[in-house]
Amino acid sequence: MRKTITDIQKSKASEPIVCLTAYTAPIAKILDAECDLLLVGDSLGMVLYGMENTLGVTLEMMTAHGSAVVRGSERACIVVDMPFGTYEESPEQAFRNATRIMRETGCQAVKLEGGADMAPTIEYLTKRNIPVMAHIGLMPQSVVKEGGYKVKGKTSESEAQVIADAHAVEAAGAFSVVIEGTVEDVSAAITQAISIPTIGIGAGVNCDGQILVTDDLLGLLDGHTPKFVKQYADLKSDVARAARAYAADVRSRAFPTAEHTYTRPVAVDVKKSA
Ligand code: KIV
Repeated sequence: MRKTITDIQKSKASEPIVCLTAYTAPIAKILDAECDLLLVGDSLGMVLYGMENTLGVTLEMMTAHGSAVVRGSERACIVVDMPFGTYEESPEQAFRNATRIMRETGCQAVKLEGGADMAPTIEYLTKRNIPVMAHIGLMPQSVVKEGGYKVKGKTSESEAQVIADAHAVEAAGAFSVVIEGTVEDVSAAITQAISIPTIGIGAGVNCDGQILVTDDLLGLLDGHTPKFVKQYADLKSDVARAARAYAADVRSRAFPTAEHTYTRPVAVDVKKSA
């Protein structure tokens, strides 16, 4: 049976909530056995499409990957990100696009970035039966405005902002909140202070749950690895090794062998065998 947002909420303070990103059906199928929640994150823009940031991700990408992940899983609660430009204009715009995501994918909830500034939109959605996971602290969709990915909560002003954002999204009806790139004592204080589960990414061990980008955890990505990532596998090397072995076999005609080759049925000479 698939976990509901109520199941996720009940886990607060009882057991850590295990979350990972998923973008495709086969990966969702593998992760489903281990995770409480799978997020179809707009990080897919960078991870799958080679974009520089998440700003170029479209609603169509999110619905296509969201429905693949729902099809590939049966246990985890599935949350799909609302991409940049599909919810900020007005609560009505957010409602139109969130209903499209839910209808086309069959997911349990949508996620959007923003704290106090997005609280009216979160309230509008939740009052109309759209469960919302909020995302505060470092918000990747603000990367251009902020001139980079900046850790939050380091100054008293930044700390006050993240705390105010957490209270605002809780009051607006968000069922849980991702806290990204935030100093650990601030996210710990928020986790104590609010009644909805906090899911941390680069926010310390005291959140109610943790999330990572799966391709980071699997060691599939190139380039800079953020401090908060723990790599549990080195699939990039495994893929390179497999491709190298295949290329050598093709070049030396060691592949395909009889085992991988179709042949005609052997013709039986009826006269001779009689
Ligand atoms: O897009 C994403 O993958 C996310 C997680 C990193 C929280 O928002």
